Amino acid sequence: MTPFVVLKAQFAHLEKEIRVGIDTVLEHGRYIMGPEVAELEEQLADFSGSKHVVTCSSGTDALLMALMAAGIGEGDVVFTTPFTFIATAEVISLLGAIPVFVDIDPRTFNIDPAKLASAIQAVQQNDPSLSPLPKGFSAKKSIPKAVIPVDLFGLPAEYDAIHTVAAENNLFVLEDAAQGFGGTYKGKQAGSLGHAGAVSFFPAKPLGCYGDGGAIFTDDEQLAERLVSIRVHGKGTEKYDNVRIGLNGRLDTLQAAILLPKLRAFPEEITNRQRAADMYTERLASAGDSLILPFVPECLTSVWAQYSMLCENRDELQKGLKDAGVPSMIYYPKPLHLQSAYEQLGHRDGDFPVAEMCSRKIVSLPMHPYLEESVVEDITGKILEIV
Ligand SMILES: Cc1ncc(COP(=O)(O)O)c(C=O)c1O
Repeated sequence: MTPFVVLKAQFAHLEKEIRVGIDTVLEHGRYIMGPEVAELEEQLADFSGSKHVVTCSSGTDALLMALMAAGIGEGDVVFTTPFTFIATAEVISLLGAIPVFVDIDPRTFNIDPAKLASAIQAVQQNDPSLSPLPKGFSAKKSIPKAVIPVDLFGLPAEYDAIHTVAAENNLFVLEDAAQGFGGTYKGKQAGSLGHAGAVSFFPAKPLGCYGDGGAIFTDDEQLAERLVSIRVHGKGTEKYDNVRIGLNGRLDTLQAAILLPKLRAFPEEITNRQRAADMYTERLASAGDSLILPFVPECLTSVWAQYSMLCENRDELQKGLKDAGVPSMIYYPKPLHLQSAYEQLGHRDGDFPVAEMCSRKIVSLPMHPYLEESVVEDITGKILEIV
């Protein structure tokens, strides 16, 4: 019927420009940090309103590099949501910092700012009755340093409230805009909503390249300078002058050349995604209580990385859709606090009940900017029959 995301239809639309971009790189041969990388950074800065954009090798590295540049390390506490892709929390652990999970708002699926305040208190007072803490947590050795809100499914988190709590507690706010880039919060672009923002250009993301890629957005000049250094093995002023520990975190020139025409087409694609989401919402409204449709708070826009809803009888819905040839996905079947990788944190079922409930009921429908009305009609008709 329709694939879950359509990369081929987009390629057909932009083929000429993408091929010209790739050919230009093949001809000039500057595969590492070629001129397309700087051009892309400039255009991303224009699009987002951020003063500085540092492209990099993936969304995961964007998160990792931003935490490194903010000086996060051993024993520091970093708050985040358990209802996200593993990369969000993984980067905290990679630096020896401690992920402290905070439950989500069931309507937006994003971190709940009131629960963030409780989690900070729990850490400061070493009191897990205020909010679940990792096993063996010691307030004496651990200082709250940062929070990573995630713009899940393309909808920005509640940044005004998050910044208020963060400012009171001196926390660095790192926006995980891997899925959010293209969404807006009170007129500001996702990616520019924290002290730094991390974006992914993974192919299936709203703005994707043809491999791995990412970018960090910030208004902080010193942070941007550290990011540029971290991106190339902690370089100083000269290539073989290493002033800090960094990594090889560059975006390939070829990927930058692919992203340039895609970024030009992005505003129109965002409009088309919104149209597809509106069609789903209008047609599914009659499902009543059997489906909880996505909620977008006033003054926010989602880029609809996913169209995700809660369904009581999810298994039945997925089976019926599969029989009709309609793909559906579950993001995410297990919240992070219950993943084996985080067994050592000692969390239990019941620690973050909203995230757990969402993991049991969430289901995502095909979503891309080239989704036709007749296809949405077929999919929603099938859904209404099943539920
Ligand atoms: C919320 C979130 N954070 C981080 C990432 C990591 O991005 P990448 O796959 O580009 O490393 C992803 C990508 O899947 C994501 O969805």
